[in-house]
Amino acid sequence: MNDYSFDDYREYVEQHLLDFLPDIDSKSITLYDAMKYSISSGGKRIRPVLLLAACDFCGGNIKEALPYACAIEYIHTYSLIHDDLPCMDDDDLRRGIPTNHKVYGEAVATLAGDGLQAAAFEAMNRDMLLYLDDTKALNRRVRSCYEIIKGSGCQGIVAGQIADMEAEDRNCSREMLDYIHITKTSALIVAAVRAGAQLGGADTDTLEDLTVYAENLGLAFQIADDILDVIGEEEEMGKKTGVDAENKKATYPALIGLEESKKRLNELTNTAIDALKDYYDNAELFVELARVLETRGK
Ligand code: IPE
Ligand code: IPE
Ligand code: MG
Ligand code: MG
Ligand code: MG
Repeated sequence: MNDYSFDDYREYVEQHLLDFLPDIDSKSITLYDAMKYSISSGGKRIRPVLLLAACDFCGGNIKEALPYACAIEYIHTYSLIHDDLPCMDDDDLRRGIPTNHKVYGEAVATLAGDGLQAAAFEAMNRDMLLYLDDTKALNRRVRSCYEIIKGSGCQGIVAGQIADMEAEDRNCSREMLDYIHITKTSALIVAAVRAGAQLGGADTDTLEDLTVYAENLGLAFQIADDILDVIGEEEEMGKKTGVDAENKKATYPALIGLEESKKRLNELTNTAIDALKDYYDNAELFVELARVLETRGK
C-alpha cells in the first residue's frame, strides 16, 4: 500500500472531481451549474477516499479507481440534494452554503440530483467500455460498479430514505432503526470499501474483513451524525442542528439517549478496527479514520 494519508487521497479526489461529469449541452447549462454547485461545495469526501484507500490496500492502481471514486461522491451528493428537499428533510443549509433548492428551486434541484446519479453510472460505464477486450480488468470494474449500484439503490440509500420518512413521528424499534441507518448510510460506505477492494483485486478473506470493518464504520458514522445533530456546532458542521428532533426522526439519541448512543458508537468503532487486526501494519489509515470519525465535530 502507498503511504498516502487521508488528506492526500482527498486532495487527489478534489483535483479530479469534475473530470468525470458528462459534457452537457450549453442549452442545459442550468443543470450543469446546479450539479456543480453541490459537488464543488466541499464535504469530507469520506466515500471516495475509502474507495481509493481500499483499492490501494488491495494492491490496485488508484488512478484507475478514480472514475469510481468520483462516481460514488456524485451519488452521495445527489442523495444529499434530495435529502434536503422540502418534501424530505426540508433543510436550508448544507456544507456551509444554502441547499441546492434554496438557490435553484425545487425542480432544478431534483433534476440536479438525477443528473448526478446518472453521471455516476455514465462515468463508470464509460470506463468499463475501455476494457472490453481485457476480461480480468473488466471483471474487476463490473464488480466494483455493482457494489456502488447496490449501495445506492433499493437495498441501500433509497430503501433507507423511505424507511426514514415512514418512521417519522412513529414508534420505532431498535431493529427498525438499525435497518434505516444501515441502508440509508452504511450501505454506501460498505459499497465504497468493497468497490475499491474489488478494483484492487482483493482475495475473499481480505474482502470479507474489509466488509466487516465498513459495516461497523458505516453504522457508527450515522450514529455520530445523529449525536452531532444534538450536540454539534452548526458553523463547524455546515448544516443546521436540532433538525432531527424537529422532524421527529427516528435516531439513536431519541431511542436510547445520548450516553448510550456514544457507548454504541464506541463499540462499533472498536469492532470496525478489530476486523483489521491481522493487517495493522498496513491498515493505519482505516484504523485512524475510524477513531477520527468517532470523535468528529462535523
Ligand atoms: C452526510 O454525510 C449524510 C449522512 C449519511 C450522515 P457526510 O457527513 O459524509 O456529508 P459530507 O459529504 O461530509 O457533506
Ligand atoms: C441522510 O441522513 C442520509 C442520506 C442518505 C442522505 P440525514 O438526513 O441524517 O443526513 P443529514 O444530517 O441531513 O446530513
Ligand atoms: Mg434524512
Ligand atoms: Mg437530512
Ligand atoms: Mg443527520
